[in-house]
Amino acid sequence: MAFSESFLEDLSSRCDIYDVVSRYVTLKKSGSNWFGLCPFHGEKTPSFSVNTEKQIFHCFGCGVGGSVYNFIMKIENLTFPESVEFLANMAGVSLPKEDFHDNRKRLYNLNLEAAKFFRDYLFSEQGKEGLAYLTGRGLNLRTIRRFGLGFAPDAWSVLIEAMTAKGYTKEELLTLGLAKRNKNGRIYDQFRNRVIFPIIDIRGNVVAFGGRLMDDGKPKYLNSPESPIFSKSHHLFALNYAKKSQGRSLILAEGYMDVIALHQAGFTQAVASLGTSLTTDQAKLMKRFADEIIISYDADNAGQTAATRAAEILKNVELSIKILKIPGAKDPDEFIKANGAEAFATLLESSEEHMMFTLERIRNQYDLNDNEGRITFLKEAASILAKLPSPIEREIYASKAAQMAFVGKDVLLSEIDRKRHAYFKEQKKEEIKKTMHPERNAQPKDRALHYTDLKSARAEEGILSMLALDATCIRQLEKEQITQADFSAPFLGNIYTRMCALVNAGQPVTAAALSQGLTESEMSELGRILSAPSGGDESMALEDYIFILKEGRARRGAVSQIDPMLALRDLHKAKKSYGGNLK
Ligand code: CTP
Ligand code: MN
Repeated sequence: MAFSESFLEDLSSRCDIYDVVSRYVTLKKSGSNWFGLCPFHGEKTPSFSVNTEKQIFHCFGCGVGGSVYNFIMKIENLTFPESVEFLANMAGVSLPKEDFHDNRKRLYNLNLEAAKFFRDYLFSEQGKEGLAYLTGRGLNLRTIRRFGLGFAPDAWSVLIEAMTAKGYTKEELLTLGLAKRNKNGRIYDQFRNRVIFPIIDIRGNVVAFGGRLMDDGKPKYLNSPESPIFSKSHHLFALNYAKKSQGRSLILAEGYMDVIALHQAGFTQAVASLGTSLTTDQAKLMKRFADEIIISYDADNAGQTAATRAAEILKNVELSIKILKIPGAKDPDEFIKANGAEAFATLLESSEEHMMFTLERIRNQYDLNDNEGRITFLKEAASILAKLPSPIEREIYASKAAQMAFVGKDVLLSEIDRKRHAYFKEQKKEEIKKTMHPERNAQPKDRALHYTDLKSARAEEGILSMLALDATCIRQLEKEQITQADFSAPFLGNIYTRMCALVNAGQPVTAAALSQGLTESEMSELGRILSAPSGGDESMALEDYIFILKEGRARRGAVSQIDPMLALRDLHKAKKSYGGNLK
């Protein structure tokens, strides 16, 4: 599924970024940009900017940025295609049918057909083993049917045959990860001899599958890959049911089996993240249906560490959090099996608020009968409590912590105040530093995009930003035979190729046209690069950038793939002609 670049460009020209952003943020003019308080991180001085000429936004504080599509994706918590749909609705533009609905609908239907196939197989004569496994794990038939569980045959192409017979293509099976291609180009069923857990989104679409082996083999689970209809970080297992449960509280567990066991025991408010650490998008999704999250992860160390991390993420979207401790069992599934639903309900009631959980955790690290231990405990507690925005909460937890260390709460509160002052001063300094000296943050925010060759990467950014500003730059770049391979940062190289394609097709190079297919962090970086006022560092010319690129490539030794002698000669030539421009 892809939108044509001209459609994206056309739609974005009807959705002026200023108009769209100002529905959410109050903007004031300053210089040639508009500024406001960033909706994506807490701040007191505006560092969120909108540039109407380039139709991009960028926050100097937290680094997010991009086109109008990226803004809607982030603020409305939507995927790229959903954000296009959203803006099209806003602008009263109808979506190109073929681009969107038909292809996606077919994929949804294919997943649904596959789910039915797996389910029917589970209940057939050949599926006996799978059914025995599931019932052996304590699930009753009603639960198995409710979750649409299934079983994948122990064979190489049964699903492929059944689905192609229904008119779906091999490409579609590959796109959804239901089939895979081997080295010889033959395709085969991805899920074999596994019990199948369909993952269903909040609208009831089957978006992906998890498949579990019935023994201790590896890998225990196979999961569908990312696809046009599935992004792991945007979904939660069983939220389709949990969203209908009473009360605005959800239980967050780790595994499919935990959640299913919880639902069977009557806790229909249980969901699971899909085998990775919780994401902000998942937190926002939960916030639509809940005010409180009870984290019920595995009791082992890994589980508890993951719980603390999840709590941080949930806290950032202002959900209130409790963390459940499961005594004497490894996970909720095992606990319920051993002690029953009522015991779990009691556990839920006694679950601790996150702050108490944290305080107790640090208390256990020190000997509070010892003065030294009490002092360190109180200092550490003060640092943590200083970050609580609500004075009421600070007061309440300060008295709890003070009690733990046998001191009056007033001393602790004044220590907290001191820490708050220091903390705010530090934050303010950071914010100013970031706004005034963006070059100090030369590395992308996202560690995954880390520049391994900073010098070259800065030049690569310069080239992108000049090319976006002035399409005629492409002549010189082509003359110098600059290609994606000369880039040290893969995502910059990829953007370069796409920019060149736009220029060569006579289309404008805009953030909107480039939005599709870039990850959120890549788009943020692109937004930052494009917002450089004069195409990068003003003291540099395009040829300087090209020189640095070639030099970097030679230094990294990437030239060995071509002819090293030739590359060296190129480099000498380049030095001769550009040497004069170098500072
Ligand atoms: N997971 C995964 N791939 C693995 C292991 C785990 O995707 N190789 C994900 C699954 O979503 C799983 C969750 O992590 O549900 C939690 O893992 P685990 O506790 O090991 O699985 P359970 O679902 O609890 O399975 P079981 O109780 O059958 O061991
Ligand atoms: Mn488990």
